[in-house]
Amino acid sequence: MKHPFTEKLLAWYAENGRTLPWRGTTDPYRIWVSEIILQQTRVAQGYDYYCRFVERFPDVQSLAAAHEDEVMRYWQGLGYYSRARNLHAAAREVVRLGGMPRTYEGVRKLKGVGDYTAAAICSIAYGLPYAVVDGNVYRVLARWMGIEEPIDSTAGKKLFAQLAQELLDPQQPSRYNQAIMDFGALQCTPTAPDCLFCPLNDSCVALHTGKVDRLPVKEKKTKVTHRYFHYFFVRAADYTFIYKRGPGDIWQHLYELPLVETDGPVEEGRLLESEAYRRLVDGVQVLSVRQVAAEVKHVLSHRVIHASCHELLIPPGARLNGDFLKVSTADLQNFAVPRLVSHFFSLILTQNP
Ligand code: ADE
Repeated sequence: MKHPFTEKLLAWYAENGRTLPWRGTTDPYRIWVSEIILQQTRVAQGYDYYCRFVERFPDVQSLAAAHEDEVMRYWQGLGYYSRARNLHAAAREVVRLGGMPRTYEGVRKLKGVGDYTAAAICSIAYGLPYAVVDGNVYRVLARWMGIEEPIDSTAGKKLFAQLAQELLDPQQPSRYNQAIMDFGALQCTPTAPDCLFCPLNDSCVALHTGKVDRLPVKEKKTKVTHRYFHYFFVRAADYTFIYKRGPGDIWQHLYELPLVETDGPVEEGRLLESEAYRRLVDGVQVLSVRQVAAEVKHVLSHRVIHASCHELLIPPGARLNGDFLKVSTADLQNFAVPRLVSHFFSLILTQNP
């Protein structure tokens, strides 16, 4: 006997489920790629990325054989770039193992695969009875059952995982898991859920107690930090300078322009007097400086980057100080850069190619 919740959810899905490019396959590689993309990205944004990614890397062998820079280029603009690096490293591990692991424990050991992703891959690709618990599941269950336990507390996580597992339909875990995620994304949305036409409205505790907009509860607020980045697009004839970001900070392994970071906002004049800027151009004849953009706000999950960009003209053949790659401006498109930097590239290169 299925739980009435499960019954109604599956009936809703039969009517309202989305047709998506990773549905209708049980290829664990493709499901893995889709779930990694969807970890922190909405379906509407991830859709095209998924299609391009699996077209270029149709199987785990092709991904494993690719150069990391190319993989990053296919991820450019999606954010949370460690997902791409981990996926790539794990693809190499899968090839070394001789194929995708077939058990939950095996899948869970892959780099970048947590409880959620392992449950999604195993249920959707292998039909194994593991319930997914993602943001959609927290919201749907917290509201339907009126649970006030914070979803980011240890007790809350355990409770929601247990409930999700109890409600799972073990006969069709793939359909059930995708149903609850679609239900959360389309019906029981974070703001303005469609309670009037909800198939669960007669039994929804949050609806009957007026708590829909207060559930689920989160214990910790993410603390937002502000950073101030000043980029330099340096022109030496047709060349410019970029570098690959190292470990221990945002945007690892992406390329970007030479950068000076300050503790707070600064005007261009003060910036050009700063020690960090002077070090960059020490001994270099700077022919002109032009501010391309000031105070561009780029919001990440728990950081706000306040960025400016300045174009510097230096003589042909001159070099900036530091470990930079000298590249032709026409080749810039071949490097994976953060969305913010690609915004500056287009500002500069469309004005003045
Ligand atoms: N979000 C993450 N994975 C999903 C899936 N398989 N279906 C719908 N939404 C999702």
